[in-house]
Amino acid sequence: MLKRLLLVLMFGSVLVWASAYAGHHGGVSPRKEGILLVAFGSSLPEAQVAFENIDRQVKAAFADIPVRWAYTSHIIRKKMAARGHQLDSVAMALTKMMEDGFTHVAVQSLHTIRGEEFDNLAATARAFSRMPEGIRCITMGAPLLSTQDDLEKVSAAILATIPPARKEQEAVVLMGHGSHHPANAFYAALMFNVQRHDSHVFVGTVEGAPEIDVIQTLLAEKKIKKVYLMPFMSVAGDHARNDMAGPDEDSWKSLLTRAGFQCEAVLKGTAEYDNFVAIWVAHLQEAYQRLSKKHGHDYK
Ligand code: CO
Repeated sequence: MLKRLLLVLMFGSVLVWASAYAGHHGGVSPRKEGILLVAFGSSLPEAQVAFENIDRQVKAAFADIPVRWAYTSHIIRKKMAARGHQLDSVAMALTKMMEDGFTHVAVQSLHTIRGEEFDNLAATARAFSRMPEGIRCITMGAPLLSTQDDLEKVSAAILATIPPARKEQEAVVLMGHGSHHPANAFYAALMFNVQRHDSHVFVGTVEGAPEIDVIQTLLAEKKIKKVYLMPFMSVAGDHARNDMAGPDEDSWKSLLTRAGFQCEAVLKGTAEYDNFVAIWVAHLQEAYQRLSKKHGHDYK
């Protein structure tokens, strides 16, 4: 009898201790969920429509969840601040969310590939989730191109957003950003995937591979006469307007025109099309679901 009473007392004190421990580690603060959208950013006013479109669609999909933004480019944040627009870095946005009592945050990368920008974002989020009394759970939503399934979905979005005026024998050349990061291989993988559906769609990059010379050779091999140039970046910013369609002699448009191709540029970022935004939103939904299920931290 005494033994049993002792056991009950011991077990009871363990429970009291456990709940006190949980309380000390943030168990007292009520659950508050939030979303943080993270993009590279653009200083061009005409490129902001892309961000506005994503913002609208995310808020429609997550009606009651506060949505905040952060921009990873230091240069762009500086430029915008000089014009009176204060944009948050990822660390700044997460600090504010921590101070505002958010306990569960789904961070969605609006990048195209899982490159350096994404790695840095994930590292920052990881650091924030380890802070004492900080945000209890942070999950990461994958960028546009992360899996084989994404390659298929992105290919479908590309095919659906090609200008209707384009004829079958005409080519579409997409300009991706490109990177020295191993994830750069996704651009060539995307070209392979999309060409299984349409052999005249090409994917090149400004700062990685495949380079425009390679694309030009492929265009010549297929005896193509007309090329539609489209940015494969979330916003039609500086690269799209200058490196792709600009008047400089080394722009893709100038280069291909000199080589005898007739060129027509479309200045619209992927984030301006609902077809692409739906893929980012689906990734956010996955991240948000992991938030609901898990109490711990989760990085993918
Ligand atoms: Co760049």
